[in-house]
Amino acid sequence: MHNHFPFILPQLPYSINSLEPYIDEETVYIHHFMHEKKYIDTLNSLIEPYPQFYLWTLEKLIRDTKCLPSQIQQDVRNNAGGVYNHYLYFNSLTDKLSQPNGKLLAEINNQFGSLYNLKEQLKASATSLFGSGYAVLAKNKKGKLSIRQCANQDTVLGCNLMPVLIIDMWEHSYYLKYQNQRNEYFDNWFKVINWDVVENIYNMYNFT
Ligand SMILES: [Fe+2]
Repeated sequence: MHNHFPFILPQLPYSINSLEPYIDEETVYIHHFMHEKKYIDTLNSLIEPYPQFYLWTLEKLIRDTKCLPSQIQQDVRNNAGGVYNHYLYFNSLTDKLSQPNGKLLAEINNQFGSLYNLKEQLKASATSLFGSGYAVLAKNKKGKLSIRQCANQDTVLGCNLMPVLIIDMWEHSYYLKYQNQRNEYFDNWFKVINWDVVENIYNMYNFT
């Protein structure tokens, strides 16, 4: 990802109809080309008048929001979070079957007992979220995994945690196909997780 201003809409690593029937083409199209793009366009318009922030990474804009001019702080917080969360969400999906392996699977078994238990706990977190937001599988500096909820476009970056997997629970992610059946959306989303990407993030993310 081009990780500083001007931010650009990333290319999906699959075709927009390839997550069918689990996540439908129309939802992917609207979610990616309209919702995600809007966050990117808005973030660029907020940063554009301030060349001193052109080289700030997305993560720095999120972590150091308080160092920005006060009149753009809240909007940057919302929109940089939106760009960050959507990139993670879309990039960790696939039309190919995959399973967690290696250190990631070992840590899942260590913290949750099994992949099934992780799924059930993440599902409980996602489906109990009040309003719009995300359920997040996050890791700390020692690699320990935990589950968090993030409201709106918040992230766990400010908590000394890194997200390795997130599910978008905003209604625009599922409502066209699933209406209020959030359990069904979660179960089908879980089938199209790209565990290779999740494992790469788990192994590679640093905290600089
Ligand atoms: Fe979304």
